Order: sequence, then structure tokens, then C-alpha cells
Amino acid sequence: MCGIVGYVGHSAGRVNTGHNALDVVLEGLRRLEYRGYDSAGIAVVADGTISSRKKSGKLSNLVAELEASPLPESLTGIGHTRWATHGGPTDQNAHPHLSDGDRLAVIHNGIIENFAELKQELLRKGVTFRSETDTEVAAALLGDIYRNQLKGDASNGGLTKAMQLACQRLEGAFTLLAVHADQPDVVVAARRNSPLVVGLGDGENFLGSDVSGFIDYTRRAVELGQDQIVTITADTVEITDFYGTPAEGKEYHVNWDPASAEKGGFPSFMEKEIHDQPDAVLQTLLGRSDVNGKLTLDELRVDPELLKSVDKIIVLACGTSAYAGQVAKYAIEHWCRIPTEVELSHEFRYRDPIVDQNTLIVSISQSGETMDTLMAVRYAKEQGAKTVSICNTNGSTIPRESDAVLYTHAGPEIAVASTKAFLAQITAAYLLGLYLAQLRGNKFQGEIKDVLADLNKIPAKIQQILDNEAQIKELGQAMADAKSVLFLGRHVGFPVAMEGALKLKELAYIHAEGFAAGELKHGPIALIEEGQPVFVVVPSPRGRDSLHAKVVSNIQEVRARGAKTIVIAEEGDEAVKAYAEHVFYIPETPTLLAPLLSTVPLQIFALALASAKGYDVDQPRNLAKSVTVE
Ligand code: G6P
Repeated sequence: MCGIVGYVGHSAGRVNTGHNALDVVLEGLRRLEYRGYDSAGIAVVADGTISSRKKSGKLSNLVAELEASPLPESLTGIGHTRWATHGGPTDQNAHPHLSDGDRLAVIHNGIIENFAELKQELLRKGVTFRSETDTEVAAALLGDIYRNQLKGDASNGGLTKAMQLACQRLEGAFTLLAVHADQPDVVVAARRNSPLVVGLGDGENFLGSDVSGFIDYTRRAVELGQDQIVTITADTVEITDFYGTPAEGKEYHVNWDPASAEKGGFPSFMEKEIHDQPDAVLQTLLGRSDVNGKLTLDELRVDPELLKSVDKIIVLACGTSAYAGQVAKYAIEHWCRIPTEVELSHEFRYRDPIVDQNTLIVSISQSGETMDTLMAVRYAKEQGAKTVSICNTNGSTIPRESDAVLYTHAGPEIAVASTKAFLAQITAAYLLGLYLAQLRGNKFQGEIKDVLADLNKIPAKIQQILDNEAQIKELGQAMADAKSVLFLGRHVGFPVAMEGALKLKELAYIHAEGFAAGELKHGPIALIEEGQPVFVVVPSPRGRDSLHAKVVSNIQEVRARGAKTIVIAEEGDEAVKAYAEHVFYIPETPTLLAPLLSTVPLQIFALALASAKGYDVDQPRNLAKSVTVE
């Protein structure tokens, strides 16, 4: 939520060519735009002054503004792409915000919770404000401290010292970046509960909300801790806490290359990421079991004895990741016989959940930065729980603060609506469930090996669905005028139905709901009228109990009331044909693993329908990929 980039380049005597700050910052913003696209802005330090441009709307508006009114060449700059919190998405509320006679520029991600009282204090001192944002208050506070408390004395720690003093007064969550015309070779940044990483170049250094902000220039990154301030020049990176005590960052290598964050010939990131899914599942499975089918999750550094003593699992997540958690519940309970709850992180955090040292918290987050999930994990840790994170983003906050992490190896996911991360999360959750079953002796090794063998067949089966996507795409295009679409599923098909509905809401702005098929008769069936499109996720007829028969009955119930039924069923399931307007077949697979297949047609449907309506599927309205506010 909000993308942030900072750059200082070209120190004399180094090999480096010295990039123009504007180019580096714009490139970083292009890659970070998925974090918010309500406005974009940039400030550079050149010729002893700050020059800035900002514009509401997508980054392309800022680029047009820069063409009409270019910025001077510079070696120091900051840039921002916004997801609005305080104040609407207008030019005035766009970042950067200026203070100290327009010699200081600040950009911000997060929410300053005590902004109102700070604003009153600054107003009393005669400060005037041009926007409705909390960010401008932080900028004004920083400017006031620099000018009035430190007397604008750069030798006295200058902007870094001012940032330390300002952060001591700020409450809430924030990443702040600041540049000052008095110190043209410096960017100072601070972070509390909001993401920020440093990129190390040769004679140039970078800051970004995540590594994509500088991936075109370096793969060497430094993780920062909570409540830290970092001052970068072209040659130096100095980290302190908010009180000036020096601190160390942890350097790591970014193991994806810029090409993996490009569209690769597809019209959108989302379409490309849907097509990345066979590989996302494969990469997540790779190297995690030996030839005997024994799981080797060496990265799970939690003491095996502790894992054996777990008597309850709580899965915490938001959005699509929470639906991955719902799928995980069915598998973990079935394989491990450990009671497993799934809860939205923000609901868990603010009730009085029963958590103790025998509780295992499994958080699921693509970004590893979702504030609701981070706060819930911290809360559970305080109660003594062990925490495992399933995450797609190396070095992000949630895995860093968890006892252990199981990374999904889906590669960078850029489209705001999650696709490949979802399948990779489900895959990782299966591995975790099987590992617990192995450790606790709930399953024979041979049984675990069989499930792994089925999992290893999944990538090819996803590819089979993708190879036949034309039929579902056509349906999506043909249904562009639909006003409402319902999705039904039972067992693991229920979270798949909810994810199918979420994709349609996110991308096509259509009313869509996912229901447990058995719940229909208890109320939602009243929504069915002539022509109402209803997707039904049908379980395998080879599966357990009478699940298949029950869902077929549910299809008939809605058909009898005029619904237009669209069925996702297993190959060879001829029985459903009689009750469906359209049938999409997916390859045979055990029921528990079926979400890895049945989700894919629903993703393609939402993509095709939204594209037919002319919507931007990568950047749907009002959304941000990484939600770093509560
Ligand atoms: C946002 C995104 C969703 C995502 C959710 C959780 O709302 O738009 O696509 O599922 O956050 O994100 P996480 O990074 O924690 O998986």
C-alpha cells in the first residue's frame, strides 16, 4: 500500500555512471505501482533546491506532467505512488509534501495516528497546510525540528537527527523518506510497522517499499528492523534506531530477476501470472521431500518436539490468502487430526482468542506485509503461541517476525488480484500438513508418499486446463453484461467458490457471492431468479461419502428455479451434463487437492469478463496489493 522509492547516485571516483535520479525513481515507481495508483509524485534535489511534480491518477499522468514540465537532472530523488488514506486522491494530496520553505520533501506510506494533535500544535506555531494528509503533518514536523530545534545545522546530524526526533513523536505505522536541499547527496528514511528495504549498488544506493523498486539496478538488498532510520548516500548506508543508536541491517541476495516481473508477452500481468501457475506449484514443491517421499522441511526451525505438542492450529490471513487457509483446514484436519481454525487476521486480533503455547499459528500472506496479519501474529506471539509463516516475499516482515517460514516460490506477483500466489499457498499448506502428519505419526510414510506423488502431477494438470482456456474465456466475454454471479461449492469447493466470487468482484466490479452449496436452501436460494448465472464447483464422483450426489442435488435445486448453471467438474463426470448450461472439465485428482485445479477456470473467467468490459485487470479500482494499514 503506497509504493516508495529513493535514490542517491554517482560518487566521484567510482565506476558507476551515475543514473539520472528521475529515471531510476520512475522505473521503481512503475514496478511498485501495484501498491497503489491513486496518485504519483517525485522530488529531486538539484541546483540547491527541491523540484517536485505530482499528479492524481495513475503513474502515466505523472509521466505526461513530466513531459510537459521536465525536472532537472539530478543524482538524488524520491518517488511515491499512493493508495489514499487521509484525503482524497487529488493533486494536492499527492506526495511529496514540502516544508521548511519548500526545501524539504517527504513521502510516506502508512498512517500517522496522532496527526490531528501534531497538526494543532504546528498550526499554533503558524505553519500552514496545503493538503488534508497526515503526511504533510509529518513533513511539517520534520521541517520544524530541522529549522527551529536544530537550527538547520547539517553538521549537527542534519536531516538524520531531525528524522530521529520526529519519529520519537510520531504514532502509528509509517515509512517516511525525506530529502533536503541543504544535503543534496542524502536520502533519509524511517520505518515503523511499514515496509522498507535498502538496495546496495556500486557508487549508488536505493530505497524501496520492496526490492522491485530497484531490481533493475541491483540484487543486493538489506533488511531493516522495526523503528529504524537509514541514511543513504552514494557510498554509505547508516542505520540507527529512533534514538541514534547504531544498528546493523541484514544483507541478502534477491533471487528473482527483473524479467520475472515483466509481462512476458501476455497482455496483462494477471494473465501471465495465471499462466505461471504450473511453475509456481512446481517450485513450491521442489526440494521439499526426498526420494522416499519423506518431507524435509529443513527451513521450519521450530523444535519438532514443540510441533508434536501442538493441540490447536489457527490459520490467520486476509483476502485470497484466507481462502487458501480455508482449503488448508480441510487438509490439515484430515491428515493430522489437529483441530484447525481459520480466521481473518483483523477479527482474530481484536477479540479475545484462546491461544497458548500449544497453539500453532500459521499465517498466510503473499506480501508478508499485510498489517492486519502482522498485528495478529504479534498478538499471538505475545500469548505464547508458536508462529509459522507461509509467505511469498523473501525478507518481509511477517516471516521475519515468525518462528519459522515456509516460503512459497511463486515468483513476484504483480497483478493486484492474487492468482499464482494462491495456488502456491495451498501447495505450501499441504506440505506443512503432511509434515505435521509425518512428525506426529498420523500417516504412514507410504501414504504421505502417495499424496506427494499426486501433488507432483498437479503442475501438468494445471497446464492442461490452461491449454484449453479458450472455452472459458469465450464464456467470460459473452457474460460481460452479467449483473450478478453466484458460486457454489462444498468441502474444499466452498473456499474455491468464495475465491471465484472474489476474483469477479475485484476485477469486474460485479456483485458476486460464494456460498456453501448446502447452505443455499437456508436463505441464499431466494436470490435465484430466471437467468441468474450460478457456477458450481462439483467434487469428484470418485470422492468420499455422497459429496458428489449432494452437489448434483444442489445444482438441480437452482436449475428448477431458473438459474443458468455453469459447472466445473472432473473429466468423465457425465452425470452433471444433464443439469448444466456449460461444463468445464478439469483433470482427475483426489478431492483434497482439487482446489489447485478448480480455481483456475474461475480465474480465467473473471479475467476474460473484466477484460471484455475494458477494465484494467492488473490495477482494479480502489485496491492495493499490499495493505499496510489496519
Ligand atoms: C489485498 C490484496 C489481496 C490479498 C490480500 C492479502 O487485499 O488485494 O489480493 O489477498 O491483500 O494479502 P497478503 O499479501 O497478506 O496475501
